[in-house]
Amino acid sequence: MKDASPQITPETIYLKDYTAFGWQIEDVHLTFHLSPGATRVVSKIHFAPNPDAPAQEFFLHGEEVNLIRASINGEVVSPQVDAHGLRCDVPSGPFLWECEVEIAPEANTALEGLYMSSGMYCTQCEAEGFRKITFYPDRPDVMAVFTTRVEGEMPVLLSNGNLKGQGDGWAEWHDPWPKPAYLFALVAGDLVNHPGAFKTMSGKDVALNIYVRPGDEGKCAFGMEALIASMKWDEEVYGREYDLDIFNIVAVDDFNMGAMENKGLNVFNSSCVLASPETSTDGNFERIEAIIAHEYFHNWTGNRITCRDWFQLCLKEGLTVFRDGQFTSDLRSAPVKRIEDVIQLRARQFPEDQGPLAHPVRPESFQEINNFYTATVYEKGAEVIGMLKTLVGDDAYAKAVDLYFDRHDGDAATIEDWLKVFEDSTGRDLAQFKRWYSQAGTPFVDVSETWEDGTFTLTLSQKTPPSPGQDVKEPYVIPVAVGLIGPNGDEVLETQVLELTEAEQSFAFEGLSARPVASVLRGFSAPVVLTHDVDRAFLLAHDSDPFNRWEASRSLARDCLLAMIRDGAAPDAAWLDGLEKVLRDSTLDPAYRALMLSGPTAAEMAQLLHENGVTPDPQAIWDAQDQLSQAMAERWQAFLPELTQASNVTAPYKPNADQSGKRSLGAAMLGLTRRLDGGAAAQAQYQAADNMTLQLSALANLVRAGQEDPALGHFYDQWKNDRLVLDKWFGLQVSASAPEQAIDRVDTLVAHPDFDWQNPNRFRAVFGALAMHHAAFHHVSGRAYALLTDWLIKLDDKNPQTTARMCSAFQTWKRYDAGRQALIKTQLDRIMAKPNLSRDVSEMVSRILAS
Ligand code: BES
Ligand code: ZN
Repeated sequence: MKDASPQITPETIYLKDYTAFGWQIEDVHLTFHLSPGATRVVSKIHFAPNPDAPAQEFFLHGEEVNLIRASINGEVVSPQVDAHGLRCDVPSGPFLWECEVEIAPEANTALEGLYMSSGMYCTQCEAEGFRKITFYPDRPDVMAVFTTRVEGEMPVLLSNGNLKGQGDGWAEWHDPWPKPAYLFALVAGDLVNHPGAFKTMSGKDVALNIYVRPGDEGKCAFGMEALIASMKWDEEVYGREYDLDIFNIVAVDDFNMGAMENKGLNVFNSSCVLASPETSTDGNFERIEAIIAHEYFHNWTGNRITCRDWFQLCLKEGLTVFRDGQFTSDLRSAPVKRIEDVIQLRARQFPEDQGPLAHPVRPESFQEINNFYTATVYEKGAEVIGMLKTLVGDDAYAKAVDLYFDRHDGDAATIEDWLKVFEDSTGRDLAQFKRWYSQAGTPFVDVSETWEDGTFTLTLSQKTPPSPGQDVKEPYVIPVAVGLIGPNGDEVLETQVLELTEAEQSFAFEGLSARPVASVLRGFSAPVVLTHDVDRAFLLAHDSDPFNRWEASRSLARDCLLAMIRDGAAPDAAWLDGLEKVLRDSTLDPAYRALMLSGPTAAEMAQLLHENGVTPDPQAIWDAQDQLSQAMAERWQAFLPELTQASNVTAPYKPNADQSGKRSLGAAMLGLTRRLDGGAAAQAQYQAADNMTLQLSALANLVRAGQEDPALGHFYDQWKNDRLVLDKWFGLQVSASAPEQAIDRVDTLVAHPDFDWQNPNRFRAVFGALAMHHAAFHHVSGRAYALLTDWLIKLDDKNPQTTARMCSAFQTWKRYDAGRQALIKTQLDRIMAKPNLSRDVSEMVSRILAS
C-alpha cells in the first residue's frame, strides 16, 4: 500500500501546527499471531473523547498494513483507508475499537515496524514505526496502558512490562505504565538468556535478562555489569528507581540505530551490547557501557516523562545524552570524557551546524522525523543541558530536575515545561537562554584583553552566522568559564563563570600584581568556536584545567598544520617540545596523554582552512598530517620505546579506564614507531595479541605500513564466523589505507561474498569508513562520490532511514573547489532523479542541494 505516486513534494510538518488528538485511550489489547509472511495483529482499544482537544475527524495512522476487519462497539465498520491511515465515523461518546490487520515482517527491509532479523521477529517503533504494525494514533502524546499477547512457534516471546502468563506457543505481557506507541516492542525467537538480578533502593527485586542468539551467550557479562551499574547510578545520583519486575535487553543483528529504550524491553544493535575481550576493543566496551546506560536512563527521561511531539525530541535525547555523559565521567575519567565529547562535537555537530543541514536543537519543521536524530539534537542538546547546569549551579540543577520528575511524571512534555521547572525553582528568567533551542548555528566568540594599572579586562564578543531560514541571530547567554594564571604558572584566579549575554561585554579583574594569562572557556563550558590570541604554549605547560591544557595543544596543532598546508612551513618545534614535556609527565593519566597526541582530524582542518578563506585541498591535508606524524616519530625516536614500555599492561585484560588508557597510549606509540621500523613492532604485537584492542591496532598499522599480508587473511580466517569482528575487518581495510587504495578496497570489498549490503552494520562498516576517510572520499577523481552514490541509490529501495543518514557525507560540499563541487552536484542530482526516491533521502538531498 506504499504511496506509488513518484516524486510528489513531501508534506512539511510544523511545530506551530500542533493540536492535541481528539480522543484519549483507556487501554490497548493487542494479540499477535506471528508468521513471517502473514502476521495477524488484532487490536482492541477503548477510546473516549479528549475534552481538551478541538473537534476533528477520527484518523488512525497506518502504513503498509492490510485491513482485514474493523468494528466499533461490536458493529462492523468500513473505514476509508489511504496510504497514510484510515478515517471513520465514530460515536460521540466513548467506544470500543476492534480491528484486525495483516502485515508481512519478512518483507520488511526498512527495519521499522515488525521485521525479521536472523530468523527472529523484532520491532522498532520510534519514531513512527508503530503505524506499520496496526492502525493507531501513532503520536507520542497519546499514552496508553498496553496488554500484549504473542502467539508463535518460538521459544522466547517478549513484549513490554511484566509477564502475566505463558504456555506452549504463547505469552501475555502487561505494561502498567501508560506509554506512547513508539515505546512498544515485541521480540520472538530462538534466543538464549544471560540472567542477572537487581534489588532497587526500596528493596524491590528486578529480574534482568540479556537475550541473544545461541552462540553469543559468552558476550553478555559486560553488558549485564553495565546495566547494574546504570541502575545503581540513577538511584544514587538522580534518585530514580526502576519500576517493573523485569528489565529485558535483546541483541539483534539488523538494526538501523545503536539501541532503543522500549519500556522494559530494550532492543540493541548487537554491536552495541555484545562484548568479549577477544572480539571487542576498549572503545567498544566504553561505548557499550554508555549505550546501556543511555537506554536505561530513558526509563525516566523519555518513558515516564515523554515528548509531546517529535519537535521536542531533545527533551529526552539531549537530557539522556547528558545523563549518560555524567555516568561515564563518574565511572571513568571526567577530563578524558569531556575531551572525547568535544572531539565528537567538532567532528559531527559543528559541520552540521555550519552547513546546509543546520537546524535548531528544537527544529520547527520537518518532512521525515528520522532525519532529525542528529548530532545537533543529541550532542548540542546535551551541551545545552550542561550550560544550564553551569549557569544555575549543581544544587539548583538537582532541585529543578527533582521538580521536573514530580511535576511531569506521566506527561508528554515540552521544552517549555523543562525550562519552567528551572525558572520556578531558581527564580531565574530563562527567556534568553531559550534561544539555544530555537536558533541554529555555532556561535563564534572572540576574546580580547587589556592590562592597565593592575586591572586585567577581558572583552568578549559573540556572533552567529546565518543558517538556512535564519538570517539574523540574537545574542545567546553563554557561560564562559575563565581562570587566570600568573606569570610563574600559579593560578591567581580560580575558575569563574562569566555570563556573556550581550553582543559584546567586558569583564574586569582588579588588583592583580602582574599581567595574567587567561584560560578561557575552561572545560569547554559552551559549544562555541573561540578565538583568543593567547600564549598557548604557556597554557600547555601550566593550565590547571585539563580540558584547556589539552585544547592549547590541539589549537597549536591546528595552527601548525595550517601553516604547513598554506605556507609549506615546517612542523612547529616549540609546540612539539612543549608536548613532549606533557607526554613525559608520568603523573598524567595515559589516556589523557594519548589524547594529547591525537591531532586535529582532516575534517576539522578542512573547516579551519575554509574559515580562513582557503579552499581545502584534501590531499594536501593528508600529506601535512602524514609529515607531522613523521616529524613526531623522528623527533621522539629516543623516547618512543620508553613510553611504549610505560603503556604496557601486564595484568589480565580488563576494559577499565586505567588499562584502556594505557593501551590507547600504546597504540599512539605503535603508530609512530611504525614510521621508523617499517612495521616490525606491529608485526610482533599482532603475533602476541590476546585481545581485540591490541590485535586490531596492530593490524591497522600493518595495513598502513603496506605489510597487510598475510595478517589480513589470517584475521579473516580467524574471525569469519563472527559478524561483529568481520565488520571491523571490512572497515579497517578502508580506514587504514591511503586515499586511492581506500577507494580500490571498497571496490573489492563490495564484491566479497560476506558483503551483506542489506545489513546496516556491514554497509556502514564499508561506506561509513569511506565517507569518514576525508582524503579518499574527496579524491579529486570523484570516484568515491560516485561509488557511494551508486550504493545509496541501491539501498534506498530497501532501507531509506540508513540511506538518508549516510547522505550527510555530502553536507560540507560547498567548502571545496569548483571541480569537486561539480562532481558532487552530479551525484546529488542523480540521487534526486531516482524513481520512487524515499521521503527520507529526498528531504536530506534537497536540503543539501539548497545550500
Ligand atoms: N531513542 C533512540 C533510538 C532511536 C533513534 C530510535 C532514532 C529511532 C530513531 C536511542 O535512545 C538512542 O538515542 N540511541 C543512540 C545511542 C545513544 C547512546 C546516543 C543510537 O542508537 O545511536
Ligand atoms: Zn536516546
